[in-house]
Amino acid sequence: MTSWRGELARRMSGPQRHRLLQGYPMLPLMRPAVERSRGVLRGTVRRADGEVRALGLARAPEDREGIPGAGEPPWVQLDPTRPILVGVLPHAQCNPRVEGCGFCTFPHDPYDKGLLRRTARAVAEQIDAFFQEHPELAGRRVDAVYFGGATANLTPRGELSAIGEALGRHLDLRGAEVTLEGVPALFRSLLRGPFEVLLDMPARHRRISMGVQTFDEAMLTRMGRRGFGGRRDVERVVEKAHRSRLTVSGDFLINLPSQPLARMLADAGEAQALGFDQICVYHLVLAAGQGTPWAEDRAIRAELPSVEQACDNWLAVREALLQRGYVQATLTNFERADVHATDRRFVYEEHSFTPARYDAIGFGPLSISSFTDLSRRRAVKLARAKSLEAGLWGEHDLFFAYHEEDLRLLFVTRTLCRLRVPRAAYREIFGADLVEHFGEAIEAIEAAGLAALDAEALRLTPRGMFYADSVAGLLAWPRVEALRADGAGRRTRDLLDDKVRLNDFMG
Ligand SMILES: C[S@@+](CC[C@H](N)C(=O)[O-])C[C@H]1O[C@@H](n2cnc3c(N)ncnc32)[C@H](O)[C@@H]1O
Ligand code: SF4
Repeated sequence: MTSWRGELARRMSGPQRHRLLQGYPMLPLMRPAVERSRGVLRGTVRRADGEVRALGLARAPEDREGIPGAGEPPWVQLDPTRPILVGVLPHAQCNPRVEGCGFCTFPHDPYDKGLLRRTARAVAEQIDAFFQEHPELAGRRVDAVYFGGATANLTPRGELSAIGEALGRHLDLRGAEVTLEGVPALFRSLLRGPFEVLLDMPARHRRISMGVQTFDEAMLTRMGRRGFGGRRDVERVVEKAHRSRLTVSGDFLINLPSQPLARMLADAGEAQALGFDQICVYHLVLAAGQGTPWAEDRAIRAELPSVEQACDNWLAVREALLQRGYVQATLTNFERADVHATDRRFVYEEHSFTPARYDAIGFGPLSISSFTDLSRRRAVKLARAKSLEAGLWGEHDLFFAYHEEDLRLLFVTRTLCRLRVPRAAYREIFGADLVEHFGEAIEAIEAAGLAALDAEALRLTPRGMFYADSVAGLLAWPRVEALRADGAGRRTRDLLDDKVRLNDFMG
């Protein structure tokens, strides 16, 4: 077996991805939520607690005549005291002039308005169907809702309202932060549009998040994103949002092909000048085999910086944002210090990186749900495919049952996104020190200068933040190797019926 240090060096020499942000385990390690081959009946579904039973039956059927898996008992006991996060993907569509904006590893489909409307309507129905099966979840406290995925603000006003109303029928959103994600230009419409739907939703705090990527117009043209809005549109959207007391987040890419460091720093400076409350900085992930148009273009790949150079650029942009008064809240999210200090600070992401406290329910194509049972040290993860026939999960969807070892990894890798893993919290849940469970990996990670262990926590160094995917990958390495053989081997592209080849974030 390769040594821990050798394995880490191997991981650090390749492209650094953001898979970690999606959480452990990745899709290829999950299995079909319901397996026909195991003799289950049509209409059999997987419930939020992991139980498999026929729709409408009050409890799981006994294993019929020795057919294993015909019914499965719940894997976790749902804990009503745990607050929830709600992620809604109203559809999976985008409309850039260049497929996937050239680089995009988010799952998305080409624009088809009829399909988009049908999908968004099905999502509203799915919400009602889900709570019909799980009325007990309706009473949970909701701290944050995120309308995201591809381009959520492409959803027509009527359909987005219907989704908001469906959520409001079952959940009390008055204490929640609600975010709508999308491209800048679609937040600007003169007529009432998705932005106004957001204003009408019940919420404690509202925010929008838009992909800016860069203010370099030539680069935006190259991405086919000129129609999504340039600097002036972005400025207008920030003003509009602030007039309505919303906070605003922008996604920015660094290490784009031939992008000089000066341009990355200029983008950060302009984002601050425009008044962004959050600036999300993503190092561009672009590697052969990824399937995006740019990734498969050798000439474009040749324009990329080396991994070490890319890390240095990230360190410089990070430093510039800290100097400009932003606080680094997570691996990729920098928040204005004055906002961060208040209850207007962005909570969805931070909470989603706190699996010990939060459960999550996802609606819509490719949404993810997870429920944890701390007393039994178990959890379930459920991923929906594109078919939206039912409120629960069926044979086209994916499922993963966390054993204690998996839950440890979920805790450590998710918490790492908040830049440190607290030892006391780990001990409280798992009854042992972090070092007892991950000693060899931690030793290699410290030796490489990616993290430092002190009495309170394992803390990523700034360099370790850039290499965080390698750090998380190393921590999970032995377990992932063991599970790989059992996994369904499905990836995002399978869930999307081959229409989309972009799987880096999900798989
Ligand atoms: C769902 S999109 C944002 C909303 C909207 N669709 C847009 O493009 O404006 C999420 C963000 O992921 C980032 N992203 C996508 N592909 C990436 C890649 N290959 N490497 C790094 N970041 C990427 C982009 O910054 C993008 O804005
Ligand atoms: S960056 Fe945004 S608009 Fe472009 S393909 Fe990705 S999700 Fe769609």
